[in-house]
Amino acid sequence: MKRPLIVGNWKMFKTIPEAINLINIIKAGIHKIADCDIVVCPPFTALAALSEAIRDTKIELGAQDMHFETEGAFTGAISPLMLKDVGCRYVILGHSERRQHFKETDELINKKMMAALKYNLVGILCIGETLEEREARRAFEVVKQQFDQSLKNLSAEEIERVVIAYEPVWAIGTGRTATPEQTEQMHSYIRRLLNEHYGDSIGERVYILYGGSVKPDNIAQLMGKPNVDGALVGGASIKAESFIQIVTNALPQELQDSPKR
Ligand code: 13P
Repeated sequence: MKRPLIVGNWKMFKTIPEAINLINIIKAGIHKIADCDIVVCPPFTALAALSEAIRDTKIELGAQDMHFETEGAFTGAISPLMLKDVGCRYVILGHSERRQHFKETDELINKKMMAALKYNLVGILCIGETLEEREARRAFEVVKQQFDQSLKNLSAEEIERVVIAYEPVWAIGTGRTATPEQTEQMHSYIRRLLNEHYGDSIGERVYILYGGSVKPDNIAQLMGKPNVDGALVGGASIKAESFIQIVTNALPQELQDSPKR
């Protein structure tokens, strides 16, 4: 089993004082947990303050999106260079809310992914089907298309710096989590795609996270599946108690509350 990776996507929530308050409670709550990697992705405006607040902790910083150019006349956009500059190690790309509300395509997401990797950011690629697509039995086909097109032209070395997040759109913010079985079925399919494209030894090492209504009371069952390496958490990541509980419950019982390494 890999070391679990739990990522909090704060979406468009939290002013700077609110973000600092939240991270301080999270810091206190997770300081005893050694065997889990934790990333928080606040809005752009809180990145600098959080970068400072998490210095000397095991928590890492991520952004929720970025432009693919390094700099230029792109009013309102943020570049990979700027994310590195503010202390990000991760960036979420292709979230379904970006695809839906900002009309992002797989082609654009692919450009962003290439740019992220060029700047040594870990790209967290979100893929997943809508309810309509699942009901039409097209979930696997849709996920394969997003996988193929968003990761086009990536080398085997580069894919190791990508995290894949399977986020079925029908499970996001709805309280309707995919069952552990549905999750494992899709994750093992994604693992197969990785192994086919990049070879087994590389494919096995890539992290595949699940996202969509992850809560303290369903994370353990999800993590119990062999191809679930962690979670991308939305709503439950902006409440300190539930995020701390998710991180705790993501670990096997014997590792919960283990001494700091
Ligand atoms: P919820 O956890 O609020 O369903 O959101 C999931 C998500 O979109 C994470 O990126």
